[in-house]
Amino acid sequence: MSKKLVCYFSAEAGRTKRAAQQIADAAGLDIYEIKPKVPYTRDDLYWPNDKCRSVVETLDRSFRPELADHDAPIADYDTILIGYPLWCHGCPTIINTFLESYDFSNKKVVLFMTSGGNGFMHSAEWLRPSVPDSCTITEGINCNRPMSKEKLAEWVASLD
Ligand SMILES: Cc1cc2nc3c(=O)[nH]c(=O)nc-3n(C[C@H](O)[C@H](O)[C@H](O)COP(=O)(O)O)c2cc1C
Repeated sequence: MSKKLVCYFSAEAGRTKRAAQQIADAAGLDIYEIKPKVPYTRDDLYWPNDKCRSVVETLDRSFRPELADHDAPIADYDTILIGYPLWCHGCPTIINTFLESYDFSNKKVVLFMTSGGNGFMHSAEWLRPSVPDSCTITEGINCNRPMSKEKLAEWVASLD
């Protein structure tokens, strides 16, 4: 069985944080929070305003929000489950910062997300340039749909 770590970024209402905790609890995995150096305020997250920080940073795919910490134990794991809220039909650029801040060579990255209703959309395509060719990125689960502890554990086991 591969060694797996759950990493997550959550900003608005803690929905992705709860999903990450449920996955980690169900499968007995370690968990790591991806935190921005400058936290997102309520105004930053008001996405109906297309000039708000979160929208501007997401639509400029070269933007790299700084991380608060650089201590994720990526080297100790084979499979990294990465969760985030869907932003602007894809993933927040802080996930690109995270992938580019560590050595993801030969790692297996599995995505999970929460959203207002959409699925993964452009997520994998937007993240691919941030990892080496030897790293795989696959879509895992959309956590908007509640899953029992048993089903979550089964899903994690199926990743091997
Ligand atoms: C900047 C921004 C863009 C968003 N874009 C989408 C979107 O394209 N599709 C969607 O279904 N939800 C979208 N949402 C809603 C979030 O994905 C949803 O509220 C998410 O579950 C929040 O998770 P969190 O509480 O962990 O931050 C967006 C939210 C923000 C702040």
